[in-house]
Amino acid sequence: MTGTITLPPAEHLQWIGSTGPDQFIRVGRRYRDFLVEDCGLVGEHRFLDIGCGTGRIAIALADVIRPPGAYVGFDVWRGGVDWCRAAITPQRPWFRFEHADIAEAHLNPDGRLAVEEWRFPVADASIDRALALSVFTHLDAPTARHYLRELARSLKPDGIALVTVFLVDDAGAAHLAGWPHGPALLAGDRAPLLDRFGKDLFAAWDPAALDAELAAAGLRAVRREAGDWCGRAPARPDRPHHQDHLYLAAAPR
Ligand SMILES: C[S@@+](CC[C@H](N)C(=O)[O-])C[C@H]1O[C@@H](n2cnc3c(N)ncnc32)[C@H](O)[C@@H]1O
Repeated sequence: MTGTITLPPAEHLQWIGSTGPDQFIRVGRRYRDFLVEDCGLVGEHRFLDIGCGTGRIAIALADVIRPPGAYVGFDVWRGGVDWCRAAITPQRPWFRFEHADIAEAHLNPDGRLAVEEWRFPVADASIDRALALSVFTHLDAPTARHYLRELARSLKPDGIALVTVFLVDDAGAAHLAGWPHGPALLAGDRAPLLDRFGKDLFAAWDPAALDAELAAAGLRAVRREAGDWCGRAPARPDRPHHQDHLYLAAAPR
């Protein structure tokens, strides 16, 4: 059962900030390559997609992951989860999508759960590879903190997670100063999780504060790679990416 998967409707692409089908496919494939080539993702792995949206990564991995491997994605946005369940799971039954029914003012206002009550829908130490693409850039501090702990709980001892973030070092700070919200974002001496704005959510991290959060969560960064969001030259010109990349593993217990 490995039929073709259709693309989500245009309004779903807009919802996740994609400019259209070509970009949706291109970004999905680029992250498939990061996962396979940089993180060693193979078909038999158990994969967790944190904030799976409308299936951009699931579609890109549809012909990579296969039983006994499995994909689990979750999102607080019910529309994306419902679409993925209807369009992807019937074609790939080993791809599962869960709705995180967290009360979230903009994305899930009627949600039943406080963030701390949401448990990632996977067993302890069961995940080989995980991704959070353009998700931590939208989370407030308590949510991000809880998600880092849940990630540590979910990863196998040799598991790896690719998490994209905005890390505000000096180059980032100089860049942000020119943004309409930049100075406000930098207020509070680059607080651990800098800030977020209304519906247009944006969260960025002070690198040292992030290290402290990772350690407290039981995670360690095995590699970091700066993105080009603040005007830096890409670390690898053949592999540009916008947000900064963190490659995380569970810290030894
Ligand atoms: C820019 S989109 C990226 C979606 C997907 N990762 C991708 O790259 O196609 C951000 C996603 O984060 C989701 N999100 C925001 N807050 C969340 C939360 N607390 N838990 C799970 N997902 C969340 C949004 O609903 C949205 O689907």
